[in-house]
Amino acid sequence: MILHTSRSQPLTGSYSLPGDKSLAHRSALFAALAEGESVIGAFPLSGVTRAMLDALTAFGVPWTFDDGTLTVTGLGLRGLRPPSVAVTCRNSATTLRLLAGAVAAAGIPCSLDGSEGLRRRPMNRITEPLRSMGVVIETAPGDGAPLVIHGRPPGARLTACHHALPVASAQVKSCLLLAALAADGPVTLCEPGPSRDHTERMLRAMGVDIRCDPAAHAVSLTPPTAPLRPLRADLAGDISTAAFLIVAATVIPGSDITLLGVGVNPTRTGILDALRAMGADIVEWNPRERSGEPVADIRVRAAPLIGTRVAGDLVVRMIDEFPVFAVAAACAAGLTEVSEAVELRHKESDRIGLLCAELAGVGVDIAERPDGFAIRGGSIRGGSVDAHGDHRIAMALAVAGWVSQTGIAVRRAEILAESFPDFVPVFSRLGAAIRTDE
Ligand code: S3P
Repeated sequence: MILHTSRSQPLTGSYSLPGDKSLAHRSALFAALAEGESVIGAFPLSGVTRAMLDALTAFGVPWTFDDGTLTVTGLGLRGLRPPSVAVTCRNSATTLRLLAGAVAAAGIPCSLDGSEGLRRRPMNRITEPLRSMGVVIETAPGDGAPLVIHGRPPGARLTACHHALPVASAQVKSCLLLAALAADGPVTLCEPGPSRDHTERMLRAMGVDIRCDPAAHAVSLTPPTAPLRPLRADLAGDISTAAFLIVAATVIPGSDITLLGVGVNPTRTGILDALRAMGADIVEWNPRERSGEPVADIRVRAAPLIGTRVAGDLVVRMIDEFPVFAVAAACAAGLTEVSEAVELRHKESDRIGLLCAELAGVGVDIAERPDGFAIRGGSIRGGSVDAHGDHRIAMALAVAGWVSQTGIAVRRAEILAESFPDFVPVFSRLGAAIRTDE
């Protein structure tokens, strides 16, 4: 699919955000590990969440999906069934890394695999700590997927431990917290930054003793003696999806949109802080809690932006938002610098290299740095670009088209269905100039 976007009239109207994908992955998997039936409302079906649901089917987990509600019959902590063939996690690293922890806790043998893109992503960040807890794992050369995980005799526990994680990563932390459910004592993890804490909140709601020390970015889990309680949850709206709307409304002159039910967990709101530092007009109101997560409604009006610097903890708190943040930077007056963000090279693509190549191709003044990039804002010319198998690169380039001189055509844009299948109808309804060609 080729997605065409061109200079747009103002965006106006309101949109109620679909459920957050990180919460969706966790809720489906944790529900499978509980005993009893879980009911999860506002569950977003997209490529990556479907990957988790299909993988759960391979482990024998019964689930149904009807009108946005996912119902899962939990099999208990050791109840996952060994699949007869390798389980594919398709493009979803969250699916693979979280499942690896759950499989380690269950003590069953299995092989976890995925797309070519997923096979290229680093897995030693989970395999090394899992091995130190006593899990036997084989990997492909280079320590990537497929991961072959060996089973454990009934009654055998994993080894309690204290790990200092070299990279702040909620996927790694969540994988190890899930394995810790079957440890022979408390497991403590320390991270170099504040990665998203959805796992901690959700497992706590299911009855697990988890203690956090936010100042030290540390979390300790004491293995439960009782089964996990099933979930009754309504998922908070996805701030990573909202980010595309927030940036688009900020940079398209005259826009004024309202986003309803956006998850505003402080470990995820770095994009709001970065845009506000640039002068964005973003107002949060009606703060409330939805199933243990803070949510709010957000009004965004177009505003002129000035360049900023992003580094340190802020990088972790907006880790998925850099593709669309780069578009905001391209529209800002002056220089925007992103540093200490080398993790971006290990996402669905090397997002530093790819953003620099594709944005330079449409006339953005962008310079690649080993751990980030620098953008001098100005006008965006337009042209033809490629999504390179990365859903967020596809959507960010489409946003750039709305403020470009000649429009942008994004080739292989169908990848956006991995995370935001309604991208085209939603933006069209808000007034954006968007069309697709097969
Ligand atoms: C996710 C964590 C982040 C993020 C990914 C989803 C999660 O990855 O980039 O899209 O749901 O835990 P890392 O934890 O590897 O930074």
